[in-house]
Amino acid sequence: MKEKQLFFCRECGTEVTKWQGQCPGCKAWNTLVEAPAGQAAKLKSKAVTYSRLKAAGVQQAKKPLNISDVKTSDDERIPVGLDEFDRVLGGGLVPGSLVLVGGDPGIGKSTLLLQTVRLLSKKGIRTLYVSGEESERQIKMRADRIGDFGDEMLLFSETAMGEIIRAVEEVQPVVLVVDSIQTVYEESVDAAPGSISQVKEVTGTLLQLAKSRNITIFIVGHVTKEGNVAGPRMLEHMVDVVLYFEGDKTAMYRLLRGVKNRFGSTNEVGVFEMQNCGLVEVPDPSAYMMQGRLEDEAGSVVVCAMEGTRGFLIEVQALVCRTSFPVPRRTAVGTDHNRVNLLMAVLEKRIGLPLGDCDAYVNVAGGMKVSEPALDLALVAALISSHTGKAFASDTIFFGEVGLVGEVRAVSQAERRVAEAVKTGYKTVVLPESNKEAVIKGGNLKLDGVKLVGIKHVRDLGGLA
Ligand code: TYD
Ligand code: MG
Repeated sequence: MKEKQLFFCRECGTEVTKWQGQCPGCKAWNTLVEAPAGQAAKLKSKAVTYSRLKAAGVQQAKKPLNISDVKTSDDERIPVGLDEFDRVLGGGLVPGSLVLVGGDPGIGKSTLLLQTVRLLSKKGIRTLYVSGEESERQIKMRADRIGDFGDEMLLFSETAMGEIIRAVEEVQPVVLVVDSIQTVYEESVDAAPGSISQVKEVTGTLLQLAKSRNITIFIVGHVTKEGNVAGPRMLEHMVDVVLYFEGDKTAMYRLLRGVKNRFGSTNEVGVFEMQNCGLVEVPDPSAYMMQGRLEDEAGSVVVCAMEGTRGFLIEVQALVCRTSFPVPRRTAVGTDHNRVNLLMAVLEKRIGLPLGDCDAYVNVAGGMKVSEPALDLALVAALISSHTGKAFASDTIFFGEVGLVGEVRAVSQAERRVAEAVKTGYKTVVLPESNKEAVIKGGNLKLDGVKLVGIKHVRDLGGLA
């Protein structure tokens, strides 16, 4: 009998029996591919987690419980010992959880996890690092750059899931790392490692392993060209925690961002710097970002941007000069170029700044990408300052959204932003008037002599430079 054909979406895994141009699941175009022969039946039979977990003997609650009788405890968490990492994890590792660490190749995922297992093993916690990408020798060479290791750290270079499970049974680790999910395969699945069905199957098995043995499993996932971990959505919903490691290849710092966390907030970011001895924590990113800033230069101002609940002081630079092209040039690095064009139009129309025949180059220094509206006021200030050649006092911070009439609108987390300015020793904060009132009314913040300048319109900036 001829086997029925089956197609699945490379992006979201949706299965259909007839090829079509657009995936009915995620609406992406040209992502449907044919499942290899023999696989259709298997793909179909994958009513994944529940039945598998049951088969693995994972305890299911016998009857519904009253919510106040359900015990929770934070004591179970195992802190890694890297504060920046623990913060993103919500305080440490939760036993029995599956954590996905995604990111571009070469960003430092393997390094981060190697450092994690090193710290844990030095505390006497047994760890197993499985790599499908590097041999034990290669891992050891990398590990030697990071430091010495305890006795509890085991390496295993393997890609077959069966062997990995056998190793886990033998070694009985508390923490297991699988680097990377795209290299591991389940023998029973007739598809290449890294294909959607393999990734799905392997993740399902690891989930079952984590829950049934109550161990923490990290899986590394490379991000595809489209910016998703291969087999992205199905992976994200299967795991407990999703972290993305990101950063500009040219900048040294790396951001670890929590995207999903069943045991904590997803608003957290951890900051690291890649050095030749591995990743080093950056506990004070504002000071780090401000390195090398020249004071009292026209066109340079500082913004306080937020990443989750954390304030970052970042330098914003603008260079405005008369154009020698028929159409003026405008470029923006680290922020949206259309936003810069819009703000320049606002300045021209609302305060009569003649920018129409000017080139403008805008740069968010340090390789950070800032897209929140709070950046507007700093952009406007930098543009005005560069155009007039007058510098704002270099210990001033700007934040606020600018509307089309030139009005300065309130932004979120104003108090945290001001607090960051106070902490880092800045003297003046220029902010939306309504934010200023709220901060003062709130009364939670000791201003320590920091002056708050509330403004309502971009023209109010005129008197400050
Ligand atoms: P890696 O952890 O291999 O990235 P991923 O697993 O995300 O693909 O990081 C690789 C990069 O980091 C590589 O270009 C070398 C660099 N690196 C350092 O700069 N210092 C170090 O101590 C280590 C171990 C790596
Ligand atoms: Mg790697």
